[in-house]
Amino acid sequence: MAVIQRFVLALSCLAFVSIFYVMLSSDSAARAEIVPVFPPKGLENSTECGSSRGIHTAKTIFVITPTYPRREQAAELTRLGQTLLLAEDLHWVLAEDSERCSPLVGSLLARLNLPYTHLASPQSKMYKQSSNLKKNPRGVSSRRAGLHWVMENFGEGVVYFADDDNTYDLRLFSQMRETRRVSMFPVGLIGQQGVSSPIVKDGQVVGFSDSWFGRRKFPVDMAGFAINLAFLRERNPEADKSMPYQVGFEEDTFLRSLKLNLTEIEPLANNCTEVLVWHTQSLKENKANLYVDHTAKNSSLEKLLKNIHFSGIASSSAMGKPMKSCYNGKKCRTS
Ligand code: UGA
Ligand code: MN
Repeated sequence: MAVIQRFVLALSCLAFVSIFYVMLSSDSAARAEIVPVFPPKGLENSTECGSSRGIHTAKTIFVITPTYPRREQAAELTRLGQTLLLAEDLHWVLAEDSERCSPLVGSLLARLNLPYTHLASPQSKMYKQSSNLKKNPRGVSSRRAGLHWVMENFGEGVVYFADDDNTYDLRLFSQMRETRRVSMFPVGLIGQQGVSSPIVKDGQVVGFSDSWFGRRKFPVDMAGFAINLAFLRERNPEADKSMPYQVGFEEDTFLRSLKLNLTEIEPLANNCTEVLVWHTQSLKENKANLYVDHTAKNSSLEKLLKNIHFSGIASSSAMGKPMKSCYNGKKCRTS
């Protein structure tokens, strides 16, 4: 009896597992079919939230930065924005992965007083929802919208895709300003080996070093190259449509679309021997839901909570937890 029971149990487990497997595999097969690397016409939409133009030259750097709402956003954008303030002749194209222009990003840009363009360029639900977070081609809709805006509005300058969480040495901007075709340079703190870089011999790029090659002709990170705008347009007038929604291949497909040869690449950072940009990442933690309890009424905590709610660090919610408070300077028992 017990043997039969065990047999039936094993059989039903097997049936359950196979149904589950079939469901999963057909789902991923369907995904691969319906999610094209390049979006169908009309899928993308972007809005110009605001723009402020400075004096532009043939050496203006258009820094295209994708950003999205999250707990760390205000801190990352403050750090990057203040770095960019120190580089001259630069236009910041800050493109939000969001349906609406957020007041947080708008107020930051207004305060910085840099030449800027603020875009809302949401990643289509097709790319967000049909893939898990690891597979979400992060920032692609914003880079495409940002480059489209630059190509529509300017003929000369240098384009650089700068993620909002990386760390940039000012010397990188003064060097990339001279880009005549495509310049490349090492990126630090990336992948297993901690660096990704072109390999240079006798002043020429002859290869690449990266933790992952993946059959890419240009195994480089988004932060590892800059492009001359006139060269970009000459090589591919539709370059704004060339970045694929395909994790891992955004850079390679985009650079291949420029029909680039290794001999055309201009190595920077002292012939790719120095790190002037780092792929830093902030530790991601969950957002807290907080309220101010009766002991802290009419105190600074009320306004502080409003402010951190606005900047997305935490949420103000009556359903949340009380903000911990302590009124005894000598002995705080906050638990
Ligand atoms: C790595 C690469 O360094 C990026 O160049 C590449 O775009 C990205 O992977 C990718 O997988 O597509 P990583 O640090 O893993 O970067 O990614 P994030 O920094 O989280 O995102 C890249 C950019 O996209 C950031 O500027 C971020 O603000 C933005 N982003 C991220 C969005 O706009 N929407 C999102 O949902 C997530
Ligand atoms: Mn990043």
